[in-house]
Amino acid sequence: MQYSTPILTVHGLTKHYGGVRALSDAGFELAQGEHAAIVGDNGAGKSTFVRLITGAEMPSCGEITLDGGPVSFRSPLDAREQGIETVYQTLALAEDLDVPANIFLGRELTYNNWGPFSVLKSRAMREQSVDMLQTTGVKIQDMSESLRGMSGGQRQCVAIARAAGFAKKLIILDEPTAALGVQETARVETIIKGLKERGVPLIIISHNLRQVFDLVDRIWVFRQGRIIGSRLTKETNPEEIVAFITGAKEMSSVSEATTC
Ligand SMILES: Nc1ncnc2c1ncn2[C@@H]1O[C@H](COP(=O)(O)OP(=O)(O)OP(=O)(O)O)[C@@H](O)[C@H]1O
Ligand SMILES: [Mg+2]
Repeated sequence: MQYSTPILTVHGLTKHYGGVRALSDAGFELAQGEHAAIVGDNGAGKSTFVRLITGAEMPSCGEITLDGGPVSFRSPLDAREQGIETVYQTLALAEDLDVPANIFLGRELTYNNWGPFSVLKSRAMREQSVDMLQTTGVKIQDMSESLRGMSGGQRQCVAIARAAGFAKKLIILDEPTAALGVQETARVETIIKGLKERGVPLIIISHNLRQVFDLVDRIWVFRQGRIIGSRLTKETNPEEIVAFITGAKEMSSVSEATTC
């Protein structure tokens, strides 16, 4: 495994918002089949990193390689078409559409492929949506109701079911269980373990260190807009990770040169 091409490699990734440096010179790597966590305090740059590698925002500079080739996604849909599924911290769902329409947003099943003349396979999408949602254990009474009337946790489950169902190369979850109850959290953790068994690489952002230590192979620490390094989960402990997050302890990793 350690000799295979990483699924994702990031070099010198940087994002400025005017004078604010949300992320500087980020270097990151994810092996095939690896599950990694990103941890760090509020405002450390975690969500920025996710938005940059999935085309939700353009980097100021830096390089991203997916499965051995350079990529520069123009939009999250572009990234999805190339096998990256993302659940953003601020959910990218359409409030006015129902659950099946949200799950198949941008990749609707049709009877033919003649653009505006295509006919939607509504029943097939509905049935597949029910199956996908069952894995999260979330109960949604009426699948034809728009998302507007659903709770934050229910919406989160729709987004996670969609991502887990379609992920081919990589799945990224930005604080997927922050809004969930105990049972839904356990279900989501089971889904993540299932993705590990299927060999789907995963990045999870979480403030829950119990969850992180339970789920992933490697932990990456972000601090004040920088990736300060990573540790294999089996070679560290929660106390050490907290010390890295707060800056009480430094990692002996080489920081990348400033590129912009
Ligand atoms: N659109 C924006 N315009 C200006 N500054 C931004 C923007 N988005 C993020 N930032 C700033 O970039 C920094 C990193 O934000 P980011 O959302 O990546 O943090 P985070 O690590 O995901 O935090 P949290 O744990 O709270 O979700 C913060 O200082 C934030 O204020
Ligand atoms: Mg965030």
